[in-house]
Amino acid sequence: KRKVIIDCDPGIDDALAIMLAVHSPELEVLGLTVCSGNVPAYMGAKNALIVLKKCEALHIPVYVGETDPLERELVTAQDTHGEDGLGENFYEEVEGISYRDGAVDFILDTLRTHEKVSIIALGPLTNLAKALMKDKEVFTYLDECISMGGAFRIHGNCSPVAEFNYWVDPHAAQYVYEMLGHKIHMVGLDVTRKIVLTPNIIQFINRLDQNKAKFITEITRFYIDFHWMQEGIIGCVINDPLAVAYFIDRSLCDGFDSYVQVATDGIAIGQTLVDVASFYRKERNAKILISVDEKRFMDFFLKRIFRGYEE
Ligand code: BDR
Ligand code: CA
Repeated sequence: KRKVIIDCDPGIDDALAIMLAVHSPELEVLGLTVCSGNVPAYMGAKNALIVLKKCEALHIPVYVGETDPLERELVTAQDTHGEDGLGENFYEEVEGISYRDGAVDFILDTLRTHEKVSIIALGPLTNLAKALMKDKEVFTYLDECISMGGAFRIHGNCSPVAEFNYWVDPHAAQYVYEMLGHKIHMVGLDVTRKIVLTPNIIQFINRLDQNKAKFITEITRFYIDFHWMQEGIIGCVINDPLAVAYFIDRSLCDGFDSYVQVATDGIAIGQTLVDVASFYRKERNAKILISVDEKRFMDFFLKRIFRGYEE
């Protein structure tokens, strides 16, 4: 099994990504670390526990981390994900179990004490940047870093050029790309925008198993309405589960290696500058994903959550 920490900001699509991860026998999820993004960090941690409870996976610890971006003021996405971050359904804390503080130290301690740990980051990179600032050396033990964020050839979702996670904390994103010393796999909007959970699919999963589909149906209703009203899309784009799926099965996406920098000020703040033509003559620090087999992804996602894993 591959050991992973999932750093996230749940968030409706984070919730679906966590569900996919805990239903994937190839992964050992050592912990969820949460920072502010879609919702403030403590609300995100409450949501992480709600998702784990639904998956009967409350043995996985949840740690709260950074409550504010490194330099910018926090802007959440509660217009997209609902006031509670889960489509305006779940305001209550899970009874009898709580999240803990100290996400940054959890990340560092885990890297120190386990071999070959990877991080799948589904939110702003604030926790990772803070951990790197505290102890850069320990990141030599990191196996891989998969980050949902950024955009290469496609327009942004927060500005004409910026994607939400890197736009919320561009300084953290830039710091991580610059300092990690590992290739980051950038699972950006170029690929994630192709993953759409449609009302048809929701109807279909309700036929497969109404009980299991209930939670997904509930949390995505608000998200689907938002997509229809804001973008005229039928269904909702689910970005984060693709990062988990790609971590498990590389053949789902394709891309190329490049040097990437994140703009930290000006009108393009949060934009990923992908140096395809090597203007900066810098070493490649990321793999940029540009294509995805969306049908195979959906099959992968649904089979795991609804039928369990099939050899
Ligand atoms: C990213 O922003 C968040 O709203 C989603 O959870 C995803 O991680 C997409 O831009
Ligand atoms: Ca997210």
